[in-house]
Parts: sequence; C-alpha cells; structure tokens
Amino acid sequence: MMSRERVLFVDHTGQIGGAELILMDVVQGRSESTAFLFDQGPLAKALSDRGPSVITSRWGIGLSRFRRDSSWLKALPLAGGLAAIIAELAHVARRHDVVYANSQKAFVLSAIANIVACKPLIWHLHDIISPAHFGALQRRLQVGLANRFAAKVIVPSEAAAAAFIAAGGRRALVEVVPNGLAVEPLPMSRQELRQRLGLPPGPLVGVFSRLARWKGQHILIEALAKLPGAHCIIVGDALFGEQDYAAELRKQVGELGLGDRVHFLGHRSDVPLLMQSVDAMVHPSIDPEPFGRTLVEAMLAGVPVIATDAGAAPDILEHGRAGMLVPPGDARALAEALDAVLAEPEILKPQLDYASRRARTHYSLARMLDSIGLLIRNVRPGAAV
Ligand code: UDP
Ligand code: GLC
Repeated sequence: MMSRERVLFVDHTGQIGGAELILMDVVQGRSESTAFLFDQGPLAKALSDRGPSVITSRWGIGLSRFRRDSSWLKALPLAGGLAAIIAELAHVARRHDVVYANSQKAFVLSAIANIVACKPLIWHLHDIISPAHFGALQRRLQVGLANRFAAKVIVPSEAAAAAFIAAGGRRALVEVVPNGLAVEPLPMSRQELRQRLGLPPGPLVGVFSRLARWKGQHILIEALAKLPGAHCIIVGDALFGEQDYAAELRKQVGELGLGDRVHFLGHRSDVPLLMQSVDAMVHPSIDPEPFGRTLVEAMLAGVPVIATDAGAAPDILEHGRAGMLVPPGDARALAEALDAVLAEPEILKPQLDYASRRARTHYSLARMLDSIGLLIRNVRPGAAV
C-alpha cells in the first residue's frame, strides 16, 4: 500500500548499522518522502532504492566523528557546519508533513530546526540514554528537547523506554515498538554452509556486531582462550570511528596466541549465511543493549544464542527460556556457557524451537511496520486520533 504522508527521515550517518537497517525497512515504498543524511556512505543508495529521494547534507562531513560520549565542547569547531545543517533541515522540513529522526544526533538537530519548521517530530530512539552510553550534558539536552519538541519517542524495548524515563523523559511520549525482522532459515546444513564459506568444520561460534568496545568482542576473545579447539568468527567492522578498538582486538588475539582460531571477517552483507553456519551466536555487549537485532536473527535462524544479561536481551530471550544469559564482562561465565552449548547441542532443540516461535510472534517485520505506520499517520496534522 502506498503511504500518503510526506515524511522527512533524518539520520546523521551514511553508514549502515542496526538503526539504519530498521530505517531501510521503514522507508520501503515511501516514494513521496525524503531522507536527509548528514554524511555520505552506502546508506544513501540503500534508501533511495527503497523509495524516498535522498539529500546528503553538504555540511555534515566530519560530524559522525563526534562520538556520542564526547563532550559537546568538542562539537564547537563543528558549530558552523551544525548551524548550516539545521538551516538546511528547517528549509527541507517545510515541504513535509512529519519529521522522523532516526538517531540521537539527527533528533537534536531536527528538534532545533523544528523551532522554525514547526512540524510534528518523531524520534526513533535506538539508544539507551544512560550514563554508560552518554555524557550528562548530552542526556539532559536530548531529554529536554524531546520533552519540548517531540510528538512521539519510539523505542525498541522496555529497557530503552525505562532509561529515557529515568533520564527525565516524559512517559506519555514513549511508544515501545519492538524491532521487527524477516529472516527465513536457509535450506542448507551447517557443514554445507561452512564448506561454501571456507569456514573450519569443528566447534565454531560467532559474533555479528560492528566493532565497538561496548559490544564486547574482547570478552568473547578472552572466553575463547579458555576453550581449546573452538574457533570464532568476528563479523563486522568499526563503522563509527572505533578503529583503535579494532586494532586492540587484533593485538589481543596475537597476545593470546589465538591467530589460527579467531577469524576477523570484516563487514559482511551475507550475515544470514554466516549466522546459520555457527554452533552458537554470542552477543557479548558489556553495556546494556537497546535491542540487538542479531539476537532475533539467530533465533529465527535456529541458532543457539548466548547473550549478556543487560538491556533488552533478557526480555528478548525471555529471561533464559529462548537463549542463555551470562553476566556482562564475565569471560569465564561466557566460556562455561559456550562449553555447555558446544558439548551437547542436541539438548537445546526445545529451546531453539521455542526461540524461533517467539521471534516470529514478537519480532515480526509486519508488526513493526504497522505500528510505526500508524504512529506516523496519527501525528500528522489533522489526523483524527
Ligand atoms: N551486520 C551486517 N554485517 C556485519 C555485521 C553486522 O549486516 O558485518 C548486521 C547484523 O546482521 C544486524 C545489524 O548489522 O542486523 C546490527 O544490528 P544490532 O541491532 O545487532 O546492533 P547495532 O550495530 O545496530 O548496535
Ligand atoms: C542501535 C542499537 C541496537 C538496535 C538497533 C536497532 O544500533 O545499538 O541495539 O538493535 O539500533 O534498533
């Protein structure tokens, strides 16, 4: 069905992380809408292929280097560029019915632009607004702007909702819309997939996240050192300026003598193949995860999940019924859990069946798109709510 609202979708990055994969689904078929990106990258084409026209700001280059835990003082040299983006946004927003900010940087600038543009503003907040993720000033600014200017704040989990409210966000603004995915298990055995992908035949685990310290890949490497004979694929790259961490991981692997058992595959576009080829999918985030698409991807693919017990993971895994939970940052506990899964995979069969059913009922793409479509329709001026 074609959508009528002219939505201005705003994102600060041109890279494709989990939040942008959600945006790619949300914009599907919305050819009357526009996506406004602050930076260049593969996201522009991915969005325009799905419907909207895309504007990449002339001023945004360098903004994504400003990290979310940085002090806003560090943004001062960028102030001219920020002001120019705000002016561009205010101008473009005028010919749209609704503004939809898909990241915190996008929201902050859209909210300021909105002082002039006066359009209903939705913030799809893919982050946990907590001290682990953001500095105090950033938290206050984001929540203050949301309370004043947002018509709705969409979050993917109760954990993200609770953090927004604990930071001072108005409860009435919040709509929890769990991320939705559509992944079908591939009709190929694990060993066939491994042969095709050139992966080792023995015990194999994987992590499928961009490289960033809070995603905890270093904990998985530490755990692997305690599991002789097991191999691990590290899928993903440093998308948002975490190159130092990526270098640290390689150094850690060298120091632990794991060079022949840890395989860095970089950013891949064939995650479903790789995911279904491993014996366990590990989600080792050391800080609370706002959602974690890879959890649901593994559940849908029938792959055992071991995740850290923080953020949205306990909810998605139903406190251990649909996957195993270990304390964040605890390599020993992770190694023990992996050892158990690798030793007796057959006892997990009922859990895997349950996880797959749960993923289909709770995290379907259609359900997410319906909920977001309705929210967009209802904030539009003149909508009968
Ligand atoms: N992903 C990918 N290629 C990679 C690594 C990850 O396509 O090399 C995908 C992964 O399958 C998932 C998304 O990126 O759909 C990451 O989303 P998630 O919510 O797990 O975490 P985020 O990176 O957004 O914090
Ligand atoms: C963010 C979060 C991740 C979430 C994704 C989509 O990148 O870090 O947990 O799954 O957005 O909402």
